[in-house]
Amino acid sequence: MIDAFLKTLYETGVDHDSVQTDRSSKVLNITPETGAFLALLLQEAKPRSILEIGTSNGYSTIWLARARASFASNVVSVDALAEKTKLAKSNLTKVGLIDSVTLFTMDAGAYLKEADNQSFDFVFLDASRSDYVHWWRDLRRIMDWGILVVDNALSHKDEMHSFVSLIRSQPELDHVVLPIGKGQLIVTGKHYK
Ligand SMILES: C[S@@+](CC[C@H](N)C(=O)[O-])C[C@H]1O[C@@H](n2cnc3c(N)ncnc32)[C@H](O)[C@@H]1O
Repeated sequence: MIDAFLKTLYETGVDHDSVQTDRSSKVLNITPETGAFLALLLQEAKPRSILEIGTSNGYSTIWLARARASFASNVVSVDALAEKTKLAKSNLTKVGLIDSVTLFTMDAGAYLKEADNQSFDFVFLDASRSDYVHWWRDLRRIMDWGILVVDNALSHKDEMHSFVSLIRSQPELDHVVLPIGKGQLIVTGKHYK
């Protein structure tokens, strides 16, 4: 049932975005391959706490929330736009996953700054790419390494360049870019010297 819902939501989103001229009205979902990849990563890594930045209409949130069922109590997802949170709430309710997700409508930079006592061992970043370098200090503080996945590493290579360079300059972290969907940057703590 959730698979059928995801398929329709994705196809409707692609059609919707193709006629929108205002970028903030687009849903800009991850690809289904990316959703399946995130689910697979979660099932292997079994993180206890999951944060998504960039909820949109909840398409990627559904993938995360469904996959987390046996090891993480919920997914925290943040979006700056109230109309996006409202759509996500409606979609998550339709698939029975709303109780597994905490939605915040706020700027992610502010969320990360305020999340003093929070830590996450899986973070999915899919929002305003030019902000990532500015969020890094707080992201790093709240991440309990952990896996960080960042969408659009190949589709928006230029916009991601400074963030990838920043990651590359961190000696304690490993990273790789995988050609899945729009390109996934995967960052983990170093597992060997
Ligand atoms: C690419 S879409 C996310 C798509 C979603 N992950 C999915 O696959 O279904 C980016 C989202 O990030 C949100 N966003 C952009 N800048 C943001 C910011 N500074 N703080 C929080 N959300 C932001 C936008 O409102 C938009 O809904």
